[in-house]
Amino acid sequence: MWDYTDKVKDHFMNPRNVGKIDDADAVGEVGSLACGDALKLYLKLDKDGLIEKATFQTFGCGSAIASSSALTEMVKGKTLDEALKITNKDIADFLGGLPKEKMHCSVMGREALEAAINSYRGIKSDIHELEGELVCECFGVTDTQIRRAIHENNIGTVEDVTNFTKAGGGCGRCLERIDEILKEELGAKQAKAPAAPSKVLTNLQRISLIKKVIDEELRPALQADGGDLELLDVEGKKVLVSLRGACTNCPSAQITLKDVVQGKLRELVDPEIEVVEEVKCTLSI
Ligand code: FES
Repeated sequence: MWDYTDKVKDHFMNPRNVGKIDDADAVGEVGSLACGDALKLYLKLDKDGLIEKATFQTFGCGSAIASSSALTEMVKGKTLDEALKITNKDIADFLGGLPKEKMHCSVMGREALEAAINSYRGIKSDIHELEGELVCECFGVTDTQIRRAIHENNIGTVEDVTNFTKAGGGCGRCLERIDEILKEELGAKQAKAPAAPSKVLTNLQRISLIKKVIDEELRPALQADGGDLELLDVEGKKVLVSLRGACTNCPSAQITLKDVVQGKLRELVDPEIEVVEEVKCTLSI
């Protein structure tokens, strides 16, 4: 059962700005009924070019309705350029958060906004939507959309790519390709990451910084997915860990370990850190 904030429930039960604007200046439509989610956004501008009115029609779940309702409230009074700066994370934050499995609803809102503004500016939305290589045929998601979601939302697992884009949530044929894209993007991120602190750390400082990053940055994210990570030992730059919970049998465990855990420790502690999984053996008599 997912936890919804009071604000999500309120915008779902009492959606603002539902309907269409007959003389809209901009209309953006994304999704399709075949995918189970569709959203049409209407914008009306005032004489100064500010968004005076925004309305929506959607076919989707409660989170899609709440995200669309929130978006129409957020864009009012903004210029189109200002509105374009709204990210899917801003929509989710406005609502006090969304369950991660429903983050794709906030992504759909942002895409509808972009499609509306593109159409107003004469940029064909269908070209935009098909930009890139089609990765997930079930939900019509391209690699461009996946790469963007990974960067904008700090995604580190294939499962979260599905949560944010729906790609991979159907037949699963595209999961391998999503995994490749994720590795490419995480690798690129790592390359672009700022150099780790140049200060030479003592062993004690390194161990306590590793512990802090694991406890504060990594474990909460893994625990949110039903997994966990235990720090077993640190031998110089080698960090010995053990995966716990859902992570233990997860097919993406090695990706999580190398790309996410090792990547974060290299970024925040030392670029030479190597993370090794230590499997604890238990003797049963
Ligand atoms: S092709 Fe992506 S889930 Fe089916």
